[in-house]
Amino acid sequence: MSQSQLSTKHLLGIKYITKEDIELIFKTAIEFKDVINRPIKKVPSLRDVTVANVFFENSTRTRISFELAERRLSADVVNFAASSSSVSKGETLLDTVNNILAMKVDMVVMRHPAPGAHHFLSKHIDANIINAGDGTHEHPTQALLDAFSIQEKIGSLVGKNIVIVGDILHSRVALSNIFCLKKLGANVMVCGPATLIPKHIKSLGVEVEHNIKKALEWCDVANVLRIQLERQDIKYIPSLREYAIYFGINKQLLESINKDIVIMHPGPINRGVELTSDVADSHQSIILDQVENGVAIRMAVLYLLAGRRN
Ligand code: NCD
Repeated sequence: MSQSQLSTKHLLGIKYITKEDIELIFKTAIEFKDVINRPIKKVPSLRDVTVANVFFENSTRTRISFELAERRLSADVVNFAASSSSVSKGETLLDTVNNILAMKVDMVVMRHPAPGAHHFLSKHIDANIINAGDGTHEHPTQALLDAFSIQEKIGSLVGKNIVIVGDILHSRVALSNIFCLKKLGANVMVCGPATLIPKHIKSLGVEVEHNIKKALEWCDVANVLRIQLERQDIKYIPSLREYAIYFGINKQLLESINKDIVIMHPGPINRGVELTSDVADSHQSIILDQVENGVAIRMAVLYLLAGRRN
């Protein structure tokens, strides 16, 4: 019998949910995708639920995507950006969040630069917590929308070859993707310069390849990540120009592999670095489908967690 409830009341990371949870989220997201493609895009499912979007790091698409998801479910929404708040006056994370909750907020969607910030909060507060990115650790809704978009494009992930290309070391998208894709039965490879691949990554059951052409020949799907310069305290690569020469994906490289692989990117794209524009905008790219699916996936997560208040 298929599951009707999530096994957890928070979404802290893909590591902490089951394959059945992921399947339930996908099943629910298919229904919500239907809703957001109707002329009337709103359902009353979260009427009387208040959600706070608490962002301690910059974000465009993730924040907007969550807010749209919440509004389409008819939730009441409050937005909090750390830069314009009392955090700059020295308030602790727990005090900040407890003050928001005192105003009767039921769910907290949070992005925070410290890995584990969400775990800490989940031990101290009652509201449902959704991780919208914790430093270099996890970004679970991105991984869910990525896997959902792959499944929509090429069917079941079982036995499919997916390569994640780029700055694996600093990417929360990479780690959440690895957990999610492996749980769904895909074969996962990471590809990038040796300095941007974590030393013990093979212990997560992934393959490592440093040659982009070989990686593309192997895969059905390439999920291409941004070089996260803002997280690099030392120089991991000589220059972006050299990175683009050795690891950037361009039309010529894609045509040389003789098969039609799917190209993905979580955004924001550095055009001309990890992808050239003719690849990012080609028929092989599902980058805008990922953005569309992001809203449906986040609606599904919010809806299912709201049903798990305790
Ligand atoms: C990612 C993030 O913030 O972790 N982007 C996103 O959520 N859309 C990836 C990135 O910043 O490169």
